[in-house]
Amino acid sequence: MYMLSALRGEEEGASLCGYKAALFTRRGWFILLIAVANIEAQKRPSLNISSKCLGNVMRVDVGPLGGNLLEVVVVVNNSAILLTPSVASQCGFSMKIDKLGNAMIYASIQNCFAQNVKDEIFTTALHLRLHGNRLVEDELYQVAETCRYTAWASREIICDHNYMEVSVKRAAPGDYALPDHPFPEANPKFGHFRRAAEKWPLDPGFRIRTIVFFTPEEKIMKVAEAQRSGYGITNTPSRLLLRSPKTSPETYTQSVAGVPMSVLKTSMIFEKKWLATQIDAAAACPILEGSVSFTPKTITWYLPCRIDPLISSGQFKLLEVHMGIDGQRLNPAELHARQYSMSVNDVHVVVEIPVGAVGGYFKSHVQDDQYLVSYTVEPMIEMFWTEATLEDTRYKVFLPITTPLLSRPPQVIDNTVPEERMFKIVLGHFAPDVVLVNITFSTEVLSTTDCSVRGFNIMAFTSPNSSLKVFSLEVPFTDPVVQQRREMEITVYSLHLTFGLLVLDDFFKFSHTASLAATLVDIAPPSVSGGCDYQNFYILVKYGNQGFNFQTMVGKQQLTPSLARQYSFTENGTHFSFVVPFSAPDVMFEAIESASVRSRLDVVLRNPETNTNFKEFSVACNFFTALTECFPNGTMTALAVKLEVVPSLNPSQLTLRDPTCGPSYSNERYAYFVFSGNSCGTTRKFLPNMMLYENEIALPDELELKRQAKTEEPEYELKISCYYDTNTTHTAAFHTRPRRSEPYAENAKGQLQVAMRLALDDSYSVFHRIEDYPIAKYLQQPLYFEVELMRSTNPKVSLELENCWATLDEDKTSLPRWNLIINGCVNPVDPYQVIFHPVWADARVQHPSHFKRFEVQMFAFTKDQEDLSRRLFIHCDVVICDARNPLGGVCGGQCSNPENGMKGQRRAISDIQRFKQLTLGPILQS
Ligand SMILES: *[C@@H]1O[C@H](CO)[C@@H](O)[C@H](O)[C@H]1NC(C)=O
Ligand SMILES: *[C@@H]1O[C@H](CO)[C@@H](O)[C@H](O)[C@H]1NC(C)=O
Ligand SMILES: *[C@@H]1O[C@H](CO)[C@@H](O)[C@H](O)[C@H]1NC(C)=O
Ligand SMILES: *[C@@H]1O[C@H](CO)[C@@H](O)[C@H](O)[C@H]1NC(C)=O
Ligand SMILES: *[C@@H]1O[C@H](CO)[C@@H](O)[C@H](O)[C@H]1NC(C)=O
Ligand SMILES: *[C@@H]1O[C@H](CO)[C@@H](O)[C@H](O)[C@H]1NC(C)=O
Ligand SMILES: *[C@@H]1O[C@H](CO)[C@@H](O)[C@H](O)[C@H]1NC(C)=O
Repeated sequence: MYMLSALRGEEEGASLCGYKAALFTRRGWFILLIAVANIEAQKRPSLNISSKCLGNVMRVDVGPLGGNLLEVVVVVNNSAILLTPSVASQCGFSMKIDKLGNAMIYASIQNCFAQNVKDEIFTTALHLRLHGNRLVEDELYQVAETCRYTAWASREIICDHNYMEVSVKRAAPGDYALPDHPFPEANPKFGHFRRAAEKWPLDPGFRIRTIVFFTPEEKIMKVAEAQRSGYGITNTPSRLLLRSPKTSPETYTQSVAGVPMSVLKTSMIFEKKWLATQIDAAAACPILEGSVSFTPKTITWYLPCRIDPLISSGQFKLLEVHMGIDGQRLNPAELHARQYSMSVNDVHVVVEIPVGAVGGYFKSHVQDDQYLVSYTVEPMIEMFWTEATLEDTRYKVFLPITTPLLSRPPQVIDNTVPEERMFKIVLGHFAPDVVLVNITFSTEVLSTTDCSVRGFNIMAFTSPNSSLKVFSLEVPFTDPVVQQRREMEITVYSLHLTFGLLVLDDFFKFSHTASLAATLVDIAPPSVSGGCDYQNFYILVKYGNQGFNFQTMVGKQQLTPSLARQYSFTENGTHFSFVVPFSAPDVMFEAIESASVRSRLDVVLRNPETNTNFKEFSVACNFFTALTECFPNGTMTALAVKLEVVPSLNPSQLTLRDPTCGPSYSNERYAYFVFSGNSCGTTRKFLPNMMLYENEIALPDELELKRQAKTEEPEYELKISCYYDTNTTHTAAFHTRPRRSEPYAENAKGQLQVAMRLALDDSYSVFHRIEDYPIAKYLQQPLYFEVELMRSTNPKVSLELENCWATLDEDKTSLPRWNLIINGCVNPVDPYQVIFHPVWADARVQHPSHFKRFEVQMFAFTKDQEDLSRRLFIHCDVVICDARNPLGGVCGGQCSNPENGMKGQRRAISDIQRFKQLTLGPILQS
């Protein structure tokens, strides 16, 4: 019984993960399949069956079988005969299966079961039964092919895988009397009988009785005996057919032109009553070993042109030679397209087939973790020759050739383009029976499924001309399996992987290791740095490594070539630099401090394509400049600069205290004033050895109110002071500020923001709310007061309590009045003296110097002797002191700072702004 099957062809490009495992064992003709996995996925194929006539053979193509077993049954006279290997070789059938599971059944048209009409029309009917797994019922297919063949040569020889067949015209040299000796072939002149045979067709009355084999010794068998030994012997209306298994005891090996051949030589004796005649039939088929030579790239098959054991005359003439594959003759163009070659020299027909050419297939093998392949192809040679005028031979040989194992170390092709930030790897080339199971990275092992989940995009491709398979893989640089190493300005990405591979049919495992590396130059955007000296900003820009395509903004304008010239631009290939004077229009004035102007230059490097900024850079410096000059002759000059915080200010509208004293020169950034000590509202103060002249630059009140109404900008006010040393000639100083800009405390609408509150206890954590007033306290119950300077972040200023007192009425000037604190110190005549509490920094208290805390015991005024008033209001004058400004008084803080943490003299800020009066109450006596 024939049974064959194949693993279903892998669907290339589809998931490789759920591969089906299968095991083949070969026992002679049997190809058994044991499917061990994934039965569910074994879909029953709808068998694609086609058949065709190929001269004196026919071929039935079946498949793919999809892992099922195929049983072939021949149908004749309504009975079915199972094809077994011995039936096949006796009856002219052979079968082969390729790697994709396609089966090919070859049949001689003169097979035992063919329905033969006049030796011209041959019909063969086959039943193909597909045995599935146990879950599915068997399927039966019927194939019948009728081949018409009339171009019979007087002798036709077929060498198939498993049999040799010779079919000769039934003609005899003539009837002759049966000699005593029943074996005329003993006659040494045996050869001449056949040479004369063609002229007289054999009388149908003759029956074959015996067959004589020449091995080369004679061996005589009765026909029935020969048939029992596996020979096929058939008479047809005009022909005699003999078929022998490829190896039988009656064949012998002979070297023909250096090619070993298996030779079958017979004479068949026909008898009719007393007459006997004989027909000779001989066949010779090449033996694979010795016929074929291999190089790693080419298969070369030598077939003798003149197969001596088959030729008995000296008039041999080779008329035609053809090459084919799988029984199908190919024309020269087809041979060329497949890169086959066939040539005929004096001795041999030489067929060359490149290893891997179309028509054959690769099979994988693994030895010592080395990957090897074999290549199998089944070429055919057909020859047609004549010997005498009417004696011709058609000779057809199929030779299944499998190369020795060829080492094919896997190759890794690195198609990585570093800029794509992804390793692109191709691994190949493999026979189609190889699957990729897993990949071992330096950090972990991932199955192909894991890899796909991870986005590595694993695919398998088969090259159409070679049927070899490659795997492709993409690993992003960002994946943890990729290692990164930074060197100078490049990053080296490296990937180490070991591919775990499996040969499906045999479960051979093997692996291949590869290391890849890719480097990327780090993207360095342009950068900018800078600094300043006493009058200029110096800016240095370093080009990135992405070209020079960026714009430089200086202040609010773009650095154009003309601006660059103005700013002494220089460039050296890697950097450029420019110099901006502190007074340039692109510079912003942030603040005016004593004798200096704090100025800032903003530089922005822009990407014009994306409209985004590569870099924003600012540098701010104090430029020392005498904005005020005091001349010995009493002339004073002052330069008012427009600050960044007052963009709406129009400097030409600024005036001195006397609103009629405008600037003698102004532009949009400056106003320049010239005045003298006795003009423009300048005031004069006498100090010890000093005379102080003061004036202020501001907007006239109505303009300032208008401006403030439109904007949220702070008020602008510059204070100008000139100290004249009465001893010598003069010294000059300058003090100025915009009222609301840091670091000055009074940045809230020009008013000090100071609050007084009453705490519940001396932890000063919970306070009475405004809506709690009036608050009731018992007599002598302690009252805990806290005063805070709000909205200031300047640690250098401090809040000091100058005077605190209590009144009966809300009016702080009302009488009676009781002093609690006088000039920062407790009232020495108070029987219940005030206790100062130190202030420490905590979540609420950022700058302890901005707070003062004191404790007073609840008391009552005596209005009359008997009527104790039940109401109290507490008032405080507070002073803001600044360590940097020279003024005396309560800023010494001697009494109110019990922690004694503050060193040095504190100074009140200014006459105008240092005071604030606070009132808290009423507090009721309960
Ligand atoms: C059936 O087989 C023939 C020849 O082998 C092929 O050309 C054809 O495409 C196949 N049809 C299907 C449906 O597979
Ligand atoms: C088929 O039947 C015919 C007629 O009955 C007979 O001559 C022939 O030998 C049979 N063939 C086989 C193969 O049995
Ligand atoms: C397949 O064919 C292409 C194009 O003809 C050729 O470039 C390639 O080398 C061939 N591959 C093999 C393995 O022969
Ligand atoms: C990876 O696959 C190879 C080849 O099939 C196998 O030998 C190995 O055990 C597998 N490794 C893991 C961790 O699964
Ligand atoms: C260009 O000038 C910069 C700054 O002075 C310097 O660091 C750099 O080395 C110079 N480059 C070249 C090529 O001279
Ligand atoms: C005072 O002196 C300065 C500097 O020398 C001079 O520019 C200015 O004109 C003088 N003013 C008067 C009123 O003389
Ligand atoms: C002014 O002169 C007197 C006497 O010459 C001297 O004592 C005093 O220190 C001087 N004052 C200043 C501020 O130089």
